[in-house]
Amino acid sequence: MSEGVVQRSILVVDDTPANIGFLLETLSQAGYRVRVAPDGESALEQAQYAVPDLVLLDVMMPGIDGFETCRRMRRVPSLEPVPIIFMTALSDAQDKVRAFGAGANDYVTKPFQQEEVLARVRAHLGRRELEGKLAEANRELENRVAARTTELRAALAEVELLKSRLQSENTYLKQEIAEAHPGTIIGSSPALRAALRQVSLVAPTDSTVLIHGETGTGKELIARALHEQGPRRAGPLIKLNCSAISAGLVESELFGHVKGAFTGAAERRIGRFELADGGTLFLDEVSELPLETQAKLLRVLQEREFEPVGSAKTIRVDVRVVAATNRDLAADSRGGRFRSDLYYRLNVFPIELPPLRSRRDDIPVLAEHFMRRMARKLGKPLERIAPETLRLLCAHSWPGNIRDLQNTIERAAVLSPGPALVVDWDLGPAQERNGGLTAPEAREAHGSRHNGTAPAQVADTGPGQSLESIERGHIIGTLRQTRGVIEGPRGAARLLDMKPSTVRFRMKKLGISKVDYLI
Ligand SMILES: Nc1ncnc2c1ncn2[C@@H]1O[C@H](COP(=O)(O)OP(=O)(O)OP(=O)(O)O)[C@@H](O)[C@H]1O
Ligand SMILES: [Mg+2]
Repeated sequence: MSEGVVQRSILVVDDTPANIGFLLETLSQAGYRVRVAPDGESALEQAQYAVPDLVLLDVMMPGIDGFETCRRMRRVPSLEPVPIIFMTALSDAQDKVRAFGAGANDYVTKPFQQEEVLARVRAHLGRRELEGKLAEANRELENRVAARTTELRAALAEVELLKSRLQSENTYLKQEIAEAHPGTIIGSSPALRAALRQVSLVAPTDSTVLIHGETGTGKELIARALHEQGPRRAGPLIKLNCSAISAGLVESELFGHVKGAFTGAAERRIGRFELADGGTLFLDEVSELPLETQAKLLRVLQEREFEPVGSAKTIRVDVRVVAATNRDLAADSRGGRFRSDLYYRLNVFPIELPPLRSRRDDIPVLAEHFMRRMARKLGKPLERIAPETLRLLCAHSWPGNIRDLQNTIERAAVLSPGPALVVDWDLGPAQERNGGLTAPEAREAHGSRHNGTAPAQVADTGPGQSLESIERGHIIGTLRQTRGVIEGPRGAARLLDMKPSTVRFRMKKLGISKVDYLI
């Protein structure tokens, strides 16, 4: 005990002068401040007025006895923790039991042994001090926990807020995607039904699927159906259009890169393979992958692992790959333009999507579907397709396939004044084409048709036109050809012989937006 530093006070409650004298002397000499009360009532009064650090209590006193005094002290909150030591006669075992029952902590026997009194007093004051320190430490800990809890609650509330914001953003984006890529696959022609049967057979497996079909035949729609009908539907469906990315960047898009992997790699980037972990990766226009990237892709397909660009760390992924092409990949692999080992890896389960001209039965129902969707979107009361228009639609060869049909219906929906959908412009040759078109051919056909029969936004290039309006018309026409794709080997930038950034700059300058070239 640190006597002298903080002087402890002891209340001696006794009516026997000899005892009082002895205790006063012993305790004062040991450094305690001693106060004396001659009976129980005055002891209670004093103790409440100035709470002592310890009480030495006699049993037999005038007025209330020691037991009652002890009981009453224990009922006063400020005195409840104060150590109370009874002073009893050596022989009186009964008293000791009663003393503990009344709330005492200990006893000393009379006649007093100086050492015993001091030892017990020190022990109880020491315990009290430790209890005090413990309580203090507990309080501090509780305060710290409370402060940290408040901080964590605030952080949690922020996380919850962000989460709910992300959830609503996610819902919104899903709606947007659903609008942009309506999932319903329309049509009941035998050719389409055969393709859909294959989808339902292979969707539940992990097999790599290669979808082949001309441009606009619905390859992406089928890839989406494969993902959504399979066990990975809760995972992500990640898409990479291999033709829309420059050869130098495609590897980092697929596998990611570490910070500083190449000039311009200012931050680490997660590749599509990693993003698709647990889900499906859709490699669109897979024929456009550079040969070096094909080798790396082959390894992922074989071993399910890869290293990001500039990193030595191997990443393992669980990804199902669905690839699509509008080229004859078998011929490309024979001609050395595509690795044949990769071709065989991708072609585990081929799905062939027939061109629209070989499933003409689907044209009326598709046209009707697109018309209703546009009517909803535009808020127009379109009810039917004019008979002459339907005849025209069914006879056309649709080089750009369903997308072509969809675009035509969208334009007609915008332009038709009444409840009947009318196409009153020339759709081009009605005769059936032999064999499929390659994407560039189809786009060419698609684009030139648009150029030839362009609605008001596309300017004529005749005299009297301002240079800006000619430029605007030309850029819109090109964007229609590429269906809005700016970069890549078949992008508008390449066709216009401009840098992609310049194309974007000119588009902004000339006020060209999606509505100008996508309908
Ligand atoms: N059977 C169908 N039912 C309804 N819509 C369809 C159908 N097939 C295709 N579409 C629609 O046609 C458009 C083109 O389809 P998609 O993008 O899947 O074609 P694609 O074969 O991937 O074309 P590309 O090779 O040019 O990328 C999309 O808007 C799609 O929703
Ligand atoms: Mg596609």
